[in-house]
Amino acid sequence: MFDLDTFITDCIAATTDTQPRLAVKEVLARAVAEPDAVTRALPATRAEIDRIHASPTLTILKVVWAPRMRIFPHDHRMWAAIGIYGGQEDNTFFRRAPEGVVASGGTQLHERDVALLGDDTIHAVVNPRPRFTGAIHVYGGDFFTQPRSEFDPDTLAEQPYNGERALALFKSANAAPHG
Ligand SMILES: [Fe+2]
Repeated sequence: MFDLDTFITDCIAATTDTQPRLAVKEVLARAVAEPDAVTRALPATRAEIDRIHASPTLTILKVVWAPRMRIFPHDHRMWAAIGIYGGQEDNTFFRRAPEGVVASGGTQLHERDVALLGDDTIHAVVNPRPRFTGAIHVYGGDFFTQPRSEFDPDTLAEQPYNGERALALFKSANAAPHG
């Protein structure tokens, strides 16, 4: 049965594994294999980025996407593991090219799915469904202080990541009616 404190302890232990990102992915896969138990611990009822654990080497977030919510392309400059415990999160990937970044495929993540993202991944995320999506995101570093980039959704022009802008998106998603 999913227990949040045990999950955090297991993630921290996984970072000392010889292959930390794979070890974290396994911990996360075990957790989201019980989506109802995770939902009881981390209810997905409003858009939010909730800090479950933060250290210089590991960040664990509860991320809830509002219905139809989307976020502009951005990078993390550290590896990430994303596990879905309710709803759906669609990722569009981008790669760097001589003239900026270009779209480069994507993936749909459903309940119980876990995806690993590399250090240089650039992605945009959308919740395509008319319901909240609950996810646990684990990052191999300090998600909140790492200097990184975001990209204009239309022009893909690069600029420094603005955490306040991202948080404002979640705030306005809660203010908007969900249909
Ligand atoms: Fe991201």
